[in-house]
Amino acid sequence: MSGVNRRDFLRSSVCAVAATAASANALAAANGSSEKVGDVEALKSDPKSLIVSSPILMNAAETSVGVTFEVSADASGWVEYSTSPDMSNSVRVFSGGLGLMTVDDRLAHVRLTGLKSATKYWYRIGADRIYYKDGYGMKNLGSEIDPKIRSFSTLGADKNGVFCVMNDTHDRKGVLDLVLSKVKAINPATLVWNGDAINSVETKDRAIEMFLHVHENHPEYASQTPLLFVNGNHDTRGRFARKLNELLMFRDPAERDGEFYDLGRNFVQRLGDIALIGMDTGEDKLDTNPLFAGIYQMKAYREMQTRWLSKIIESPTVKTAKFKVVFCHIPLFDARPNANPGDLAPADSAPGYPKNWAAWQRTCANLWGPLFEKAGVQLVITAHQHRFRYDAPTANRSWAQIVGGGCGLDKNRSDYPTVIEGSIKNGKLVVVVNDVLNKKVVGEFVFA
Ligand SMILES: [Fe+2]
Ligand SMILES: [Fe+2]
Repeated sequence: MSGVNRRDFLRSSVCAVAATAASANALAAANGSSEKVGDVEALKSDPKSLIVSSPILMNAAETSVGVTFEVSADASGWVEYSTSPDMSNSVRVFSGGLGLMTVDDRLAHVRLTGLKSATKYWYRIGADRIYYKDGYGMKNLGSEIDPKIRSFSTLGADKNGVFCVMNDTHDRKGVLDLVLSKVKAINPATLVWNGDAINSVETKDRAIEMFLHVHENHPEYASQTPLLFVNGNHDTRGRFARKLNELLMFRDPAERDGEFYDLGRNFVQRLGDIALIGMDTGEDKLDTNPLFAGIYQMKAYREMQTRWLSKIIESPTVKTAKFKVVFCHIPLFDARPNANPGDLAPADSAPGYPKNWAAWQRTCANLWGPLFEKAGVQLVITAHQHRFRYDAPTANRSWAQIVGGGCGLDKNRSDYPTVIEGSIKNGKLVVVVNDVLNKKVVGEFVFA
């Protein structure tokens, strides 16, 4: 576009914003785009709500939180937050927030940063409806606000509360209803979703259904409780799994050194005297397994996490914590001699192992186990095997392991789903394992 034409176009666009509908139509007609003004009017009167899901809070942390919700048309979402329930002195943060704000027709992601640790905040969500034709043909058609004021609390060494763990729900609605009902009753400070949320996810639409509309009885399951999401092997499967961070935000890059930028799921956060550490065990098959077509790089991923772990265990966050609890999906120990250890090259099978996928992750145990010993990790909470189990520490392994339950709904079987809860009581870490199918406690473990 020439300079003169560009100036004319700019003037027309600026005028159009302030013009009446009639004059805007005239201007637009002069630009040959009268039908676009008609589209604007249609958008203004669109009866469909712009905000179509409750928010989920991602990446529980000391000074930040991610807020994600679904929108039905081009919008720039925002969050207003305040330290008062009346929303006085609230601050509005838009999607993107720097340079180009985000405009998207499916999702709004807003990351709140610079928060105070161990502090309660109130917030509400909104979205500006955006008409978009082209680089100069844009209009902000105004805000739609969800009037509901919700709250959340940041983590930190001064924050006391309960962590909950759910795992291996595999998008089974009956299981999710039981699990999320229990989580709601406990009302934890953070909810660790320890993997296998899905089986395989091919599309963004399907992923939105599974995470933003997880169950009709629980639309607000993570609207006031920030999630700590830990990948399971199944969460790495499917075309959209490669883009899952477009729905489930990666953690704030400010949390980690630049060389670890790609480790968007690893976390180290304090909940009072507990250091919560998140690791990703990756797939349950080797990168060399022909089934994976040479498009997985879990070996390098696990090694990078090892370097990250070796640094964070020297941080004050970990060193000053009385208790250190690690969360990862695939177990790091299994006493059964025929349990596939996940390192049977090249294709995960060998005589004596009935299953051709990892029951536990010997590679990760060898990489991370010595660092857990060095850091004084007391407990590793895992999942994947669909059977609750407790492995007490041994002479060669100073940490205990809890394996969370499964997604079975048959009371005659042992793959019942669990919700694990942990908190400090009288200076001790108390971890309770709830069988949410049979509604009873199946384990209680105390760490002094
Ligand atoms: Fe599973
Ligand atoms: Fe799994």
